[in-house]
Amino acid sequence: MSALKKTDPQIFELIKQEEKRQKEVLEMIPSENYASKSVLEALGTVLNNKYSEGYPKKRYYQGNNVVDQVETLAQERAKKLFNVPYANVQPHSGSPANLAVYVALLEPLKGKIMGLSLAFGGHLTHGQPVSVTGKFFKSVQYTLGKDGYLDFDAIEKQAIKEKPNIIVCGFTAYPRIIDFQKFAQIADKIDAYLMADISHIAGLVVAGVHPSPVPYVHIVTTTTHKTLRGPRGAMIMITKKGLKKNPDLPKLIDSAIIPGIQGGPHDNQTAAIAVALKEASGAPFKKYGLQIVKNNKVLARELLKNGFNLVSGGSDNHLILIDLRNKGINGSVAALALEAAGIVLNKNGVPYETMPPFYPSGIRLGTPAITTRGMKETEMVKIAEWINDVVDEAKKYQLPSKKEDRSEFWKKFKKEIFENKRLLEISKDVEKLSIKYPIFSL
Ligand SMILES: Cc1ncc(COP(=O)(O)O)c(C=O)c1O
Repeated sequence: MSALKKTDPQIFELIKQEEKRQKEVLEMIPSENYASKSVLEALGTVLNNKYSEGYPKKRYYQGNNVVDQVETLAQERAKKLFNVPYANVQPHSGSPANLAVYVALLEPLKGKIMGLSLAFGGHLTHGQPVSVTGKFFKSVQYTLGKDGYLDFDAIEKQAIKEKPNIIVCGFTAYPRIIDFQKFAQIADKIDAYLMADISHIAGLVVAGVHPSPVPYVHIVTTTTHKTLRGPRGAMIMITKKGLKKNPDLPKLIDSAIIPGIQGGPHDNQTAAIAVALKEASGAPFKKYGLQIVKNNKVLARELLKNGFNLVSGGSDNHLILIDLRNKGINGSVAALALEAAGIVLNKNGVPYETMPPFYPSGIRLGTPAITTRGMKETEMVKIAEWINDVVDEAKKYQLPSKKEDRSEFWKKFKKEIFENKRLLEISKDVEKLSIKYPIFSL
């Protein structure tokens, strides 16, 4: 860091400030995590300097002997860890990984994707109309049942009617176990490809605390920076079942990445993915995954005790979705109040949402990052208590029911909430707890 301090003190100082923030708050956004020092070290290396368009041993540029070894190692580790015959480790992030699958398999404007609606916990790249995945391909969206669970009868009926070429399962805000076998029965019935986007739960799958999609689906995509705790990045994997359905899948995926949608891979990122995969293959990672779920269960139990309404009534994984309507507070108000108290999570829509996306009715939170820091069940009880106290205090700030009054309210609220005495008090207690747990556990 000393070079940066000298050449660019402004950026150096901002990075220091961000490090301090990450240490002093409870990071509870379920898609975030703290990567290890080794992962960050690999990211900040000379591998950043290389261009290596193509794949190991088939590059368009010279000088890739070392990079070939790095990428091959990352591929081999991914294959072993997830038990798949093929892995592409080049996607720059989760969104291009998903796009690459569609580019590989679908005819533009004709091929059809069927994914969970964003409003019900799907991701933008599962064919939402505002995303390129919904604009350049046909797309239909399924929803959840009134109970907040996947409704397989409805999904099956829709799939038979719509005949999508790809069904996407794996979500952004779904707190329950995903039954990949049921999805497979539906996809097989209509001869569709089944793609599991396990971005959120990859670490849980590796740790054995969530069933693996590998026996049931054709293609698996995942980010590497969420529960898997690696650098920002992504992978596309093909299963034995996928190869059986279409032996050309590896070729199609490889060329969808380059020349289809990307140029050169980020070789420093590839190395960091390899490091993270090695970390995830050891026994401590299994313990980590188990603890994420244990912590989340305790958090859910305590929130329920305090009268919070959890979507689907609880959680089986690493995340919780709270519908705040019974508490008389809007999700956006609660999320900012919680930030003022040092608890960082995100506002989120709930199934059958009645509010606009900027002012949704819920919040989403989870335990991957705080579990990396070593927090356990006792801390979860305390955190649930703080969340309850913050929500109680923040009820004073009522989002106007008239749309035209909201932006004025929001301007004032954004300032006042960070001066609220009770929340400042809680933030001091949160900080006291947080700094006891290092952000670099490895
Ligand atoms: C299920 C799922 N897929 C894909 C992505 C996209 O990943 P990225 O933000 O790296 O493009 C996300 C990110 O939140 C996600 O939750």
